[in-house]
Amino acid sequence: MSQPYDALEVLRGVWSARGQTSAELDEACGTKKSCKKMADVGFDGMAGADGDLRAAWRDRLRREGKLPPVSDGPPRRRGAVEGDGEAGGASEASGRHSVERPESVGKLAETLRQGGYLADRGLATALFVSLSLQRPILLEGEVGVGKTEVAKVLASVFGRKLIRLQCYEGIDTNQALYEWDYARQMLHIRALSEHQIADEAAVDKLFGPKFLLERPLLEAVRAGDQAVLLIDEIDRADDEFEAFLLELLSDFQISIPEIGTIKAESPPLVVLTSNRTRELHDALKRRCLYHWIGYPAAEREVQIVLVREPAVSEALTRKVVAAVNRLRELDLAKPPGVAETIDWVRTLDFLGATGLDPQVAEDTLGAVVKERDDLDLVRENLEEITSGA
Ligand SMILES: Nc1ncnc2c1ncn2[C@@H]1O[C@H](COP(=O)(O)OP(=O)(O)OP(=O)(O)O)[C@@H](O)[C@H]1O
Ligand SMILES: [Mg+2]
Repeated sequence: MSQPYDALEVLRGVWSARGQTSAELDEACGTKKSCKKMADVGFDGMAGADGDLRAAWRDRLRREGKLPPVSDGPPRRRGAVEGDGEAGGASEASGRHSVERPESVGKLAETLRQGGYLADRGLATALFVSLSLQRPILLEGEVGVGKTEVAKVLASVFGRKLIRLQCYEGIDTNQALYEWDYARQMLHIRALSEHQIADEAAVDKLFGPKFLLERPLLEAVRAGDQAVLLIDEIDRADDEFEAFLLELLSDFQISIPEIGTIKAESPPLVVLTSNRTRELHDALKRRCLYHWIGYPAAEREVQIVLVREPAVSEALTRKVVAAVNRLRELDLAKPPGVAETIDWVRTLDFLGATGLDPQVAEDTLGAVVKERDDLDLVRENLEEITSGA
């Protein structure tokens, strides 16, 4: 134990030791030193058969006479609920409060408005059903039309915790669900004496809640209906991850082989968003309510800007919204969303503009058009875009 070594490297070695012999393990780790280093912490070489690392440790220690003989009780299965109380999960009653649910679509829309979000009747109805029936909701739509924002506002107005899982290409369960805290496990092993390492309880503890790094999905299952789970931009994730989500969305439970099954008593409100960069699977859609968020009607967009930026002039806002709507009719690669409308109004207001002539528009186009080719197209049409503004 006295030799210096890289704790993380050792732990990687330990972790990948699923049924390998010492030689195979050294080969897999690409180093001849890993088994030596594992020996330093009391676990040199592994020879488990079923891929259950904890069982492999236990077996090895037993073989070496460091653990008491096996009792006659039933063998512990991987994934079985062990109920050690520490695992937390939805049964943790402390700190929970009953969640507020809207009484009607109208009340929900009003509550969202108070939180700074204007939902049209269609969206408010979809959200109302989602909240009432505890069904996930999938929001697809144009860029910058308030898909992500609605989840944030829902969490804030209902006093729920916002748990956000930002999807990206290559995201996997380690980033989404949970990970073992290798470094802390390693330090813990180092801190244990030879005698303590041989103790079965100490081995169990190494794979207990204390060393579990919670990622958003596990956090959401634990929080249950006290949370809004935002699975943002699911279309960026790979097919495999989408398939994995299917299971979670069906029963809101997560099995951790070393700890057991954690199930949400009452599911969180799940909001999935997608920009439709690819089609999502029917199976995922089937588990969700669906709502498409398009660009708002001009009058609603004016109201949205005024809710978000109460200090700006309504007259200026109307002019900008009219111009943005004309921009959306052009064949732009990136048509402006509500977010850009707000940015443009904010920019003009900051510069003290009261109207929108072609010159002012050209000077401030960077707030609303963000593609080189689009800029050229818009510049050619500035007269028309600002006409009537
Ligand atoms: N209905 C609305 N009520 C209030 N604010 C809105 C509304 N729609 C959009 N916004 C504003 O637009 C901004 C952008 O919204 P958001 O980020 O949710 O868009 P998005 O649809 O998720 O875009 P992206 O596809 O780029 O992720 C928000 O910060 C909010 O200020
Ligand atoms: Mg978004």
